[in-house]
Amino acid sequence: MTQSNLSRRQFFSASALAATTFATANLRGQDARANCASSYEQYSYASDGKTAKIFSSAISEPVNILQISDSHLFLDDARGEEYKQFSDRMAKAYNHTKRATDGKETNPTEMFQEITSNAAKQDYDAITLTGDIVSFPSAAGVDFAKEQLEATGVPYFYTSGNHDWHFEGMEGSEKELRDEWIQKRLKPLYPDGVNPLCYSRIVNGVNLLMVDDSIYEILPEQLDFIRQELAKNIPTLVFMHIPLYAPGRSVGYGVGHPDWNAAHDRNMIVERRRQWPEAGHTAVTYSFRDELLAAQNMLGVFTGHIHQNTLDLVNGKPSNVVRAAYDGSTLRIELRPFPKRPEQRKTPTR
Ligand SMILES: [Fe+2]
Repeated sequence: MTQSNLSRRQFFSASALAATTFATANLRGQDARANCASSYEQYSYASDGKTAKIFSSAISEPVNILQISDSHLFLDDARGEEYKQFSDRMAKAYNHTKRATDGKETNPTEMFQEITSNAAKQDYDAITLTGDIVSFPSAAGVDFAKEQLEATGVPYFYTSGNHDWHFEGMEGSEKELRDEWIQKRLKPLYPDGVNPLCYSRIVNGVNLLMVDDSIYEILPEQLDFIRQELAKNIPTLVFMHIPLYAPGRSVGYGVGHPDWNAAHDRNMIVERRRQWPEAGHTAVTYSFRDELLAAQNMLGVFTGHIHQNTLDLVNGKPSNVVRAAYDGSTLRIELRPFPKRPEQRKTPTR
């Protein structure tokens, strides 16, 4: 994905807006879930692009999550020899980077090592990886990432990006290639026994949904999955690779984008893949986006793909992009109980 033109100033102005507290709708009449529903009444979100702080009356204990995206590891070894014709371009992409904090010359491998070694020293309950961890389906890259992640001692949850499974120029549809190379290369990065296209984990009372949207389209089974998960009515965060469409954004924010179609596909030649469909998105993909953003218990969407920090509020819901990890960038996500005023802190006397 080419870099977004969004300036830092635009991002921080969006962040300031996001810090506004807003109340959610009162769900009177839903007796069975009355206690749970009322707990969503207080909610706020604040971000400076490095740390996102979510406060909610539905959160009962602190949760800290580290999001890593788009590290674009390009390591390879003899197992990749026969695929060189398909990996050549991406194996040379992002090989030399500059560390975001100080401009030091570095590379994706060094930055991944630094990120995971810092994570091991902190207080994370989970690490979420939102795709393009490797620049092509590289067994050496996956081995390296897994080794580094295991060494943190922190549970980690991965979903793929459009480059993780893509050998450029290889015959097959995006869906077929994703299924094939998840099984042949990426499987070690997933927890045992999960469906790589959609799975969930509850961490300290917060439901983390990992959804693979790396072909821009959502499958019916993935729509069914989020419906079932959201119906649990517990605080939920969603992690994916490609951001949801927000008005004013490019087709890179492609899930539910009304211009995502063949006429707007500018990278199919360079990426040597099939063209996006003439007719654009399916009804399933549009429903997925709309239903996620309408759910009261969905507290934030966290993605990558664009390589720059951006934040959109869509129907009041934060939709985040984290900057690419190849320069050492990550997002720390903190969930906390909504702060109480002094009079609310008193314990009732009998
Ligand atoms: Fe990427």
